[in-house]
Amino acid sequence: MSAAAPFQVMPRPFLKWAGGKSKLIEQYQPYFPQQFTTYYEPFLGGGAIFFYLAQQHPALQAVLTDINPELINTYCCVRDRVEELISILEDHQLEHSKNDREYYYSVRSRFYQTDIERAARFIYLNKTCYNGLYRENSKGAFNVPIGRYKNPQICQPDLLRSASSVLAKAEIKVRKFDAVLDDSPSSEDFVYFDPPYYPIGATSNFTAYSRENFKESEQVKLRDIFAQLARRRVKLMLSNSHCDFIEKLYSDELAFPGGCLPKLLEISANRGINSNACKRGKIREFLISYL
Ligand SMILES: C[S@@+](CC[C@H](N)C(=O)[O-])C[C@H]1O[C@@H](n2cnc3c(N)ncnc32)[C@H](O)[C@@H]1O
Repeated sequence: MSAAAPFQVMPRPFLKWAGGKSKLIEQYQPYFPQQFTTYYEPFLGGGAIFFYLAQQHPALQAVLTDINPELINTYCCVRDRVEELISILEDHQLEHSKNDREYYYSVRSRFYQTDIERAARFIYLNKTCYNGLYRENSKGAFNVPIGRYKNPQICQPDLLRSASSVLAKAEIKVRKFDAVLDDSPSSEDFVYFDPPYYPIGATSNFTAYSRENFKESEQVKLRDIFAQLARRRVKLMLSNSHCDFIEKLYSDELAFPGGCLPKLLEISANRGINSNACKRGKIREFLISYL
């Protein structure tokens, strides 16, 4: 891979995302593989790890996927039509500054037809809604209330341009995590999984993803995919909550035969989004690695 190239603004996430990994990168950094050919991120969200790796390796080949079609449409527009997007976001920024509340709820309730308008709406709502959450009601309508921001940065042209430049060669698709197997990653490739965390009781983090969205059976299926890739010697990392359920899944010698058990590393993280300030503090998480 080539050496780091200069950027006007370092590429980093252009969205706020529940469970985003930006603050954990320093702790993850010693465990990233030095060499790999293609990087896969099947739970993309805000893409903190992708953008970090892209800073280190500007020629990074990546396959970036997520189940959320509005999120993926936004990434595709940032990659392919960044100047048009910036221009629509400038309009949103101006209108929001005139009457933030009224404008927020008018954008939230409006259906935009084109991909580029939907992408701009997605970024606008992400920057102005409560805690950058993404939540839909049963009819699929975004229903997060407005957040309390004095001067939200709705349009960040240089950040969007640097994101666009590192996304230029990425394959970006809507798909479920198990479809990563369709690409048959090899031992030269690196896959990082950051699923919705297994909930750890009443005091667990409030995230945008509920237990219903990502059930225990999905955690087991994910472990089986991780084990299948480990048997092929693919380089792997996975984040999840620090609890017995996850520990047992990834220490199960029957699931990881032939000495391919992963390492379970302990990471210390801030609780992040929690409506109750008393419940914000340090918690332990697992970083599970097979390299
Ligand atoms: C914890 S977030 C990822 C955060 C990301 N690493 C970051 O730094 O911002 C989990 C992501 O998984 C996605 N997701 C949930 N269920 C999924 C599934 N079955 N297949 C693929 N993606 C899924 C969600 O849309 C969400 O973006």
